[in-house]
Amino acid sequence: MLSPLRVGSLFTLCFWSISTLAAITPPTLDSEYDIIFAGGGTTASIIAGQLSSNAPDLKILILEAGPTTRERIEHIQPGRYFTHMEPFSNTEQFTASKPSDYVAGRSVVIPSGRCVGGGSSVNFMLYNRPSASDFDDWVTEFGNSGWSSEDLIPLLEMSETYEVNPQGNNHGSSGPLHVSFGGKSFELAQEFLDIGPQVEKNRPLSDEGNDFTEASLNVDWVRWTSLRRCGSISASKHHYLYPQENNSNLVISTGSRVVRLVLSEENEGITATGVEFIYDKHVFPDYPTTTQSITAKKMVILSAGAMGTPLILERSGIGAQEVLHQANIHQVVDLPGVGSSYQGIELLLTPYTTDTETFDPLFRNNATIWAEALRQWDIDRTGFMAANGVDAAIKIRPTEAELQEIGIEFTERWNDFYANKPDKPLFWLSALAGLPADQSGLPILNFMSGGCFLGYPESMGSLHVSSDDPYAPPNFDTGFLSKQSDVAALRWGYKKGREILRRMPGFRGAFVPAHPQFPEGSSAALNETGPVSLDAPNVVYSPEDDEAIDIYIRKFVGTSWHSLGTAPMKALKEGGVVDDQLNVYGVKALKIADLSIPPSNLNANMYSTTIAIAQKAYLIIAKELRIIV
Ligand SMILES: Cc1cc2nc3c(=O)[nH]c(=O)nc-3n(C[C@H](O)[C@H](O)[C@H](O)COP(=O)(O)OP(=O)(O)OC[C@H]3O[C@@H](n4cnc5c(N)ncnc54)[C@H](O)[C@@H]3O)c2cc1C
Ligand SMILES: *[C@@H]1O[C@H](CO)[C@@H](O)[C@H](O)[C@H]1NC(C)=O
Ligand SMILES: *[C@@H]1O[C@H](CO)[C@@H](O)[C@H](O)[C@H]1NC(C)=O
Ligand SMILES: *[C@@H]1O[C@H](CO)[C@@H](O)[C@H](O)[C@H]1NC(C)=O
Repeated sequence: MLSPLRVGSLFTLCFWSISTLAAITPPTLDSEYDIIFAGGGTTASIIAGQLSSNAPDLKILILEAGPTTRERIEHIQPGRYFTHMEPFSNTEQFTASKPSDYVAGRSVVIPSGRCVGGGSSVNFMLYNRPSASDFDDWVTEFGNSGWSSEDLIPLLEMSETYEVNPQGNNHGSSGPLHVSFGGKSFELAQEFLDIGPQVEKNRPLSDEGNDFTEASLNVDWVRWTSLRRCGSISASKHHYLYPQENNSNLVISTGSRVVRLVLSEENEGITATGVEFIYDKHVFPDYPTTTQSITAKKMVILSAGAMGTPLILERSGIGAQEVLHQANIHQVVDLPGVGSSYQGIELLLTPYTTDTETFDPLFRNNATIWAEALRQWDIDRTGFMAANGVDAAIKIRPTEAELQEIGIEFTERWNDFYANKPDKPLFWLSALAGLPADQSGLPILNFMSGGCFLGYPESMGSLHVSSDDPYAPPNFDTGFLSKQSDVAALRWGYKKGREILRRMPGFRGAFVPAHPQFPEGSSAALNETGPVSLDAPNVVYSPEDDEAIDIYIRKFVGTSWHSLGTAPMKALKEGGVVDDQLNVYGVKALKIADLSIPPSNLNANMYSTTIAIAQKAYLIIAKELRIIV
């Protein structure tokens, strides 16, 4: 999916200008700093930016494996978001899971950010917040004090300017991260918003799906907004980190891959006293590969993300005995929870076709459309470059009658997890204007994709090192679909999505090769070529049809890029890795602050949760260092 037109246009609005892509050399580093961040992604940017501006005497170093993102057009124009997913992307890391029968023998590839700002510099910009009970569970079920929705929602408010409705319930009006509808939305979104409520006429209706109340998060139609400012991406690196970049107390060392922690063993136990790193071979291929060691006088903060942090711990000898033994690493701290509870959000993306406008020409790298998109952006910050193709969705919580439709495979999960938490939806459904995938082998069509995002899968996986080599692919199991309740939920999601999409005026039939292969003569046959009427009967599925859907789900399920939970914040005896002050059990002067700490999943795109974790972590660290009282 390489774009023929990667070098962007000049523009004058806002405060960015485009730098020449001059070769960057790493900064000269001192031998010691007060605080070292291992990983310069979303959370590190938010924490370090604030520490730097509020504590001028604190010497801070960020070691980030990936490249700089400063004033790079691919991190400014929203419409370029998908270019980061190209196979040889320098801004993302792709972690392949071991093949699993649960996903039809496939290896699922999980992307994560690998550049300054991490995920926030490459993500799809969908603005979506979890349910209040998702945070509250961390307190009531995992014993972490200070992490309830009442503690965290004010921190989210403080971080955002919600341009859509600054007075909105639980929203902010003066934070550095801006939220808006962006510069373009697609006709399909409007169709989805028109037809959806008519199909789901017994559900309450609201245009606010993100105010943390039960009414909005239960069963409503929401408008997706994107984190943008002046038409541009509003990512944490720009608004927390780069404004502080010239502070003499802050050093951002890019292309710097942390190998392991330096741990010192004294009579009072084990202390993190620094880190070892190498210059990253992707960013600085010509630099020496020797390991360098830097001292942290006050603290090391692991912020390498859910896909990075457990690996640094294990390379340092912190983890389960068996895992470390297999990787030939000497164990220093026995911490079996490291990497043992990977969680993702399973996503089923089902393509239909449409005759309305979609994002596909950009996915297909149509040079004419790219040129037009760039021209439009220069004029007024609208058009394809100001969009992502995902504008509307619904969060659905099944009714009693619908639970019957989902079936008994789901009953236990419902009773254990959802029944007593009325603000938890089962999943969110959307109609994407396009098929965000490598389309090189596909016919030239306009796609509309049904998206079913299963927010609280029961399945869990694991992520562990395979050796002490910082480039070695890890032993990774997504765990996807290892619990049948997840298959049952997604099966119902496929059906639910199909009922809405086949009634939208722009619907022109299913893209059959990427659908279930229903048996001959099935009443679920995918033979429609245009929309059915609103009152058409729902498709009826036989047990054989359901089986075809299950096979399909295992073949096609993917990730929604929301990995978390690989170093969870919970009690040590329950597999925890950090306590509620983010201290790693058994190691002094070592904290974790990133998406590896959630002990349980959240039904939302994860940027907002990451912001909440980062702001809370800032408060914890700043108090400990007496920067704030
Ligand atoms: C493709 C994609 C699309 C997404 N879309 C959305 C969306 O639309 N909406 C939404 O809300 N969320 C989205 N997310 C999720 C969200 O952006 C991430 O969950 C969030 O940014 C994670 O933040 P983090 O701080 O935990 O980790 P990250 O931001 O990933 O930061 C970790 C950083 O550590 C670095 N690192 C790792 N190992 C090392 C090492 N050994 N040494 C040095 N550095 C290291 C990495 O390079 C990375 O920069 C998306 C994520 C991805 C990847
Ligand atoms: C930091 O310094 C560089 C070089 O002088 C300059 O281009 C940049 O704008 C400065 N950044 C900020 C936030 O002031
Ligand atoms: C690109 O899009 C234009 C306008 O829709 C179309 O005429 C042209 O055939 C497309 N080019 C390719 C290579 O598909
Ligand atoms: C599609 O197939 C079903 C079942 O075989 C049949 O009842 C229906 O009439 C067909 N619809 C169209 C539009 O051909």
